[in-house]
Amino acid sequence: MPVANAHEAEELHAGLLARHAWISPKFLYDALGSRLFEAICELPEYYPTRTEASIFEHHGAEIARAAGSDATLVDLGAGNCAKAASLFPLLQPAQYVAVDISAEFLCVALASLRQRFPDIAMEGLGMDFSTRFELPPLVRAERRLFFYPGSSIGNFTPDEAHGFLRRLRAQCGRDGGLLIGIDLAKDKAVLDAAYDDALGVTAAFDLNILRHVNELLDADFDIRQWRHHGFYNPELGRVEMHLEARSAQHVRWRGGERRFEAGEHIHTENSYKYQQADAIDLLERSGFEATHLWTDPQRWFAVIHAQAV
Ligand code: AVJ
Repeated sequence: MPVANAHEAEELHAGLLARHAWISPKFLYDALGSRLFEAICELPEYYPTRTEASIFEHHGAEIARAAGSDATLVDLGAGNCAKAASLFPLLQPAQYVAVDISAEFLCVALASLRQRFPDIAMEGLGMDFSTRFELPPLVRAERRLFFYPGSSIGNFTPDEAHGFLRRLRAQCGRDGGLLIGIDLAKDKAVLDAAYDDALGVTAAFDLNILRHVNELLDADFDIRQWRHHGFYNPELGRVEMHLEARSAQHVRWRGGERRFEAGEHIHTENSYKYQQADAIDLLERSGFEATHLWTDPQRWFAVIHAQAV
C-alpha cells in the first residue's frame, strides 16, 4: 500500500491541522480517484471534457495551422496521452514529450503510440511540473509547443497560474508557444450541477480523498461521516469542493489527530473559471501573445493558442 513521502506527509498534516482544514486536490488522484475522474468525464452534467473535445473536432485543422507542424509537443499531465495523440495526424509534431507525475502509466501509453506513429520521436518524463521544473536536454529546444488541455490551469489560483505560465514561457525559447484549454465563467446552475452530479460520481471522487489519506497517513477517517459539496462561488470566480462532517468526530493519523465538529469542512479543491478577456490578459502578463481563440457555440470553454513574445 502506498505511503506518503516526508514532503506529502508534512503537507497533509499541516492542512488537516489548519483552522480551515484542507487537503491538496493532487491527493484526489490515486488509482481509484483517476478512474472516478474518467467516469466524471462521461457524466452529462460534466461539460468541460466533451466541450473541449468538440472544439478540437470542429477546429482541428485551424488549430494545427496556428500551432504549426514540426513542433516539439510537450504534453503537461499527459496521462494516457489520448488527447495529444488525437492531434498527431493534423499537428505532425517532430517530437512528442509526455510529462506526468506517474511515469509507469506513460511508458505503457508511449509504447503503443510509437507503433502507431513511427515517424514521431517520443519521450516520457515522470515529474511534478506544477512547482518548479526544467526540461532535460533530451527535449528538443526548437519550436516547443506546450499542451495544457482540460482546464487543469483552474486548480491554480490566478497568481499561481501566472507564476506557472511564466515558468513555461522561460522554457519556450523565442519560437515556442502554448496550446491551452480554459474553462470559462458561466451560469451558476450549470457549474453547480457539473460539480455535484445526480449520480454522485463527483461525491465519490471527493470522498475518495479521505480513503486515500487513510492509506497515505494510516488515518482513520470514517467516510460515511462526511458529505460532499461542490458549488460555484461567483465572488471568487471558482468552483469549490468541500467535505462536511455529518457529526462531531475525532480523527487520528500517523503524527497527529483532530476533533471535527458537526458541519466543519475540509476544503479539497478550487477550480477557477475565467472570463475570456481575463484568460487572455493572464497569458499576456505571462509573456505570451494569444494568436487564436476557439470556443463552442455556448462559449462555455476556450482553447487558446499563444505565442511566446
Ligand atoms: C481536472 C482540475 C480540470 O476542475 O473540473 C472535476 C477536476 N473536480 N470534477 C476540474 C474535477 C471535480 C477538474 N480538473
